[in-house]
Amino acid sequence: MSTSYRNVPKVTTHVLQEMKLQGEKIAMLTAYDYSFAKILDGTGIDVILVGDSASNVMAGHSSTLPITLNEMIYHASSVVRAVRRALVVVDMPFGTYQGNSKEALSSAIRIMKESGADAVKLEGGKEVIESVDRILSAGIPVMGHLGLTPQSIHKFGTYVVRATTEEEAIKLVEDAHLLTRSGCFSIVLEKIPAKLAAKVASEIKIPVIGIGAGRDVDGQVLVLHDMLGITIDFSPRFLRRYNNLAESVQGSVTAYINDVKSLDFPNEREQY
Ligand code: KIV
Repeated sequence: MSTSYRNVPKVTTHVLQEMKLQGEKIAMLTAYDYSFAKILDGTGIDVILVGDSASNVMAGHSSTLPITLNEMIYHASSVVRAVRRALVVVDMPFGTYQGNSKEALSSAIRIMKESGADAVKLEGGKEVIESVDRILSAGIPVMGHLGLTPQSIHKFGTYVVRATTEEEAIKLVEDAHLLTRSGCFSIVLEKIPAKLAAKVASEIKIPVIGIGAGRDVDGQVLVLHDMLGITIDFSPRFLRRYNNLAESVQGSVTAYINDVKSLDFPNEREQY
């Protein structure tokens, strides 16, 4: 496997395409604020997604539906101010692109102009293809998102694995080809059978980034707060936790409270 792309000064959609061709896996994580984005960018992460999962992990909503365009632009601008190298992709929030391609374009333009991000992501295939085409016609790079599409939770009523029936699998493959032909630079496949994801990744020319879609795709994405163990009440099978930050933060804050109450903090060296 080539690791040459770890040294590129700025990750572009072209770099991601080259990574797919060379077989170098793409590492993507979410971020929603300046401080975490700065840490992530310093590690050499390839793509930072300002996900509408901010609605859950930052704002405490039970779905991604309530987050607004202004709120996404606020999160995206904070991330962009921190990032030098990673490609920054911003989720278009629910209600800003479905069913009206003109509104989709003006939403995407606002995201690009006001946040300085590199690309947008939106959920769906055939149903949103007019919006995808119109956004692409303005020169804005688009990442697709198929499989489990959390903005459609009320249509499906559940977050279970998607595309397990033949009909749904066929539609997903067709949608992936459609998005590719339209000119999307990449597609996220969420929570679908690994075999189906592998088939899509081998059939289409653009990078496929999986979350709960197995390893035979071109890259992986996780929600930062999940993989760091901040959101402890969310434990799907696909999630690997790399830390237990909730416990670590609780420990630090408890120690601080004890130090304040016992007059241990601040000591003489910590005062003027
Ligand atoms: O909003 C998000 O975090 C996402 C990822 C789960 C891909 O769309």
